[in-house]
Amino acid sequence: MTTIRELSNHVDETVTLKGWIYNSRSGKGLHFLEVRDGSGLCQCVVSEADVTEKVFEDAGALTQESSLEVTGKVVKDDRSVGGYELHVSDLKVVQIAEDYPITPKDHGVEFLMNNRHLWLRSQRQWAAMQIRNTIQFSIHQFFQNEGFIQMDAPVFTGNAAEGTTTLFETDYFEEKAYLTQSGQLYAEAMAMAHGKVYTFGPTFRAEKSKTRRHLTEFWMIEPEMAYYDLDMNMELAEQMLKFIVKSVLDKHQTELEILERDTTYLKNAVENRFKVISYTDAVEQLKSEETANMLDQMEEDRKKERTELKEEKTTIEKEKGSAKKWRKAQIDQRIKEIHTRLDQIEEDLRNIPVWKKSAAEFEWGRDFGGSDETILTMQYDTPVMVHRYPAEVKAFYMKRDPENEKLALALDILAPEGYGEIVGGSQREDEIDLLKERIAEHDLPEEAFDWYLDLRKFGSVPHSGYGLGLERTVAWICGLDHVRETIPFPRMLGRLRP
Ligand code: 4AD
Ligand code: MG
Repeated sequence: MTTIRELSNHVDETVTLKGWIYNSRSGKGLHFLEVRDGSGLCQCVVSEADVTEKVFEDAGALTQESSLEVTGKVVKDDRSVGGYELHVSDLKVVQIAEDYPITPKDHGVEFLMNNRHLWLRSQRQWAAMQIRNTIQFSIHQFFQNEGFIQMDAPVFTGNAAEGTTTLFETDYFEEKAYLTQSGQLYAEAMAMAHGKVYTFGPTFRAEKSKTRRHLTEFWMIEPEMAYYDLDMNMELAEQMLKFIVKSVLDKHQTELEILERDTTYLKNAVENRFKVISYTDAVEQLKSEETANMLDQMEEDRKKERTELKEEKTTIEKEKGSAKKWRKAQIDQRIKEIHTRLDQIEEDLRNIPVWKKSAAEFEWGRDFGGSDETILTMQYDTPVMVHRYPAEVKAFYMKRDPENEKLALALDILAPEGYGEIVGGSQREDEIDLLKERIAEHDLPEEAFDWYLDLRKFGSVPHSGYGLGLERTVAWICGLDHVRETIPFPRMLGRLRP
């Protein structure tokens, strides 16, 4: 058995592929089978002249997602998906699939989500999962190369690390336990034993909001380093993201093309230093005339584009009446594209006034909302590292800025193109008395943090870390507009199955 990915090593040889029918069509004396095998997609041409009558008949009866073994000669063909074709000599049907529910026509998202177990076979979903895997692997590579060890934090915990409003409570033998929101506190303990560690595990938040950025179960990577200050933390996070993005660009041109991902921003993230800005400067930027003007300009551009697209649509619709069959299909395709773009434009036009208001009225001390992050990142062509947030909007464990008590030594990294926060981190409070004060201020029970406070009693050192949200990172790198497509089986408000 050969895989489609390896076909380039087998040109002019006869090989056998084992896979499924992705799509098929028939012409005179020919069947064209688009076969996928998990590693890629390959067109297999069955010619009546080259095979037995039975094989030709079987090939014609193959429905979408039927499974098969197919043997033939590998031929280089630049017009073909993947660059190679199989000229079939033999074929064995494994199973005929009847009425596969996901057809090449358009389906609504709810329908696709209900059929997630099958939707995963579609090209775009396949490409996203391939990239997710590379992102995961490259994260391990990066940290292992840098001398970190991976640690596994518990999933059942007695502590709230990231606020008490998003805890999933479970019954732990008549005791209350929570599903972990973050492995950080445990990573801090391990960092005092090993210097540099990272967690890579599932985390849970009872997020009641239905947004394109929120899951209730998501994967987080949390490095924690002894003797690191905020600057060192920021440098590490930037190098890590560069490494991840570069790994994807190096390995996944085909997948990025399937996703129709414009890679300009990804290349920028690898090649250029990230924009670094303090929270306070970011607020100023948000409220500036420059931002207001940018949004006005954007509104104007969108309106102009809308007019142009509508004109184009009218023109080609007129042409369609008398067009040839192939041209009609082309026109239908273009009209579909125009509708998609028009929907986006309408959404932007609804959003822009909201963004404008939110930006202009933003007050120092608040946390950034999704729209504020969108506006901020629109103004730079790399990810944006925002540091030193007001302590009040951040977690209890963050160290205050020695130069300004109101600020926490915090760091968020915002991904460009409207993706927003993918990393949240900080330098940690290392003085026991201050930490106790913070725990009280946040109304957290001190008993639950006994062991955590021990870390400040026995050889406390400056230390820092951050959390990278895997699904948001996948969404950004793949250019997906919702995190539900970044994980095989997403869990979010209203979605527990399949
Ligand atoms: O900013 P957060 O809440 O930070 C922490 O949990 C810290 N303990 C991390 C640390 O310093 N070790 O979460 C970190 C990242 C966010 O930037 C975001 O990418 C992701 O986790 N995240 C979510 N992703 C999907 N769905 C959600 N509901 C998420 N909440 C956070
Ligand atoms: Mg955060």
